[in-house]
Amino acid sequence: MYLPFQPTVHGLACDGVSVRAIADAAGTPVYIYSARGIAESYRATDEAFATYPHAIHYALKANSTLAIARLLKSLGSRADANSGGEVAVALRAGFASREIVFTGVGKTRHELEYAIAQDVGTIYAESPGELDRIAAIAAALGRVARVAVRVNPDIDANTHKNISTGLKTNKFGVPLDDARTIYRDRRGCTSLQFVGVHVHIGSQITTAEPLRRAAAVLTDLALALRDDGVELEHMDLGGGLGIAYEGRPMITAAEYAHAVLPELRRIGLPVVLEPGRAIVGHAGALVSRIVDIKRYADGPQFAVLDAGMTELMRPALYGSFHRILPVMPREGLESPWDLVGPICESSDVFARDRAMPPLQVDDLVAVLDTGAYGAVMASNYNRRMLAAEVMVADGGWSIIRRRQTIDDVLVLET
Ligand code: LLP
Repeated sequence: MYLPFQPTVHGLACDGVSVRAIADAAGTPVYIYSARGIAESYRATDEAFATYPHAIHYALKANSTLAIARLLKSLGSRADANSGGEVAVALRAGFASREIVFTGVGKTRHELEYAIAQDVGTIYAESPGELDRIAAIAAALGRVARVAVRVNPDIDANTHKNISTGLKTNKFGVPLDDARTIYRDRRGCTSLQFVGVHVHIGSQITTAEPLRRAAAVLTDLALALRDDGVELEHMDLGGGLGIAYEGRPMITAAEYAHAVLPELRRIGLPVVLEPGRAIVGHAGALVSRIVDIKRYADGPQFAVLDAGMTELMRPALYGSFHRILPVMPREGLESPWDLVGPICESSDVFARDRAMPPLQVDDLVAVLDTGAYGAVMASNYNRRMLAAEVMVADGGWSIIRRRQTIDDVLVLET
């Protein structure tokens, strides 16, 4: 496992490039990504499935900045898009329309028309009603839509309740027991071509067993559909592989493959994977400057950062843990700090009681493992501007998205 952000005697570095130098030049808050980190994770996933026909459709929702999408394309990835916007980004990044799968629980008529007109690889239907809308739109456009049904297998992924998707209490997919009938009832529909089956039970999954069970039920369904005469091209297992935020051992791509491949081999159909976090999570850090220090008698000491939940929502939304490192650590005893953002919300806290060396105003800190679901979930709340994004590659770095300006924001308004 390659981890791009490492302390050196000259401070924190990303692939050997000084994080301080980047932050001083690009300003803060800034997201820094390692091209090498992304490439290494992509290859690890690809190699784990090398013995079985597979296609990796990188889940753009994890991070869809164009340069990152282009990098994944250059590595051989295909794309998983979750909205019309992500389909458009995938096309702009150079993915062929057939290399895109279109997932998502609430696709609008407009999005479906766009995806069908673009002839995307597969549209995953989330309900019988959606399947019928796809059929009607395709018929009206004189097209045949390539579709699959997303099933909800009622499997507990043992992850945070906000990112679990495979339980029957979740809004995603159709009940597994209904799936066969849904395919059967529409076999004569000439504007639909059923090319696959799909499951995605959640994200940040840290054990193999739920993933194996999902692969098992999907294989059973594909075998049943084969009996019904439905000729499928692939089975899509979704994404969900977790990463080690705490630094503790984590299920690897190889262990994931080892768990699911025996199930898939029962039918032998090519598998589609939709990893997001496992590809880009470790490859990004959010670098922020301390703008204020506050100490209360008998209370916590706060380091107030120039980044908060507007740049990185995960701690506020899921109570998630991210390692936070000083970029140039000061000598001295560690003590507990509350690292907080500047937003007018009490949940705008990155870490409480975190042991850190002495911190001072203007020091830089790096919030690690924020390559996935970091920049993409940012907002303009409090009229804050979206952070700049930087890619480190080949021993140098470049800005891949400039910092938003107030003019960028207000241009939309009267
Ligand atoms: N495929 C589908 C249909 C999905 O819904 C997702 C993620 C993925 C693939 C990619 O999953 P991954 O490999 O990244 O786990 N914002 C949350 C995560 C939400 C995941 C949503 N769906 C977080 O920050 O933890």
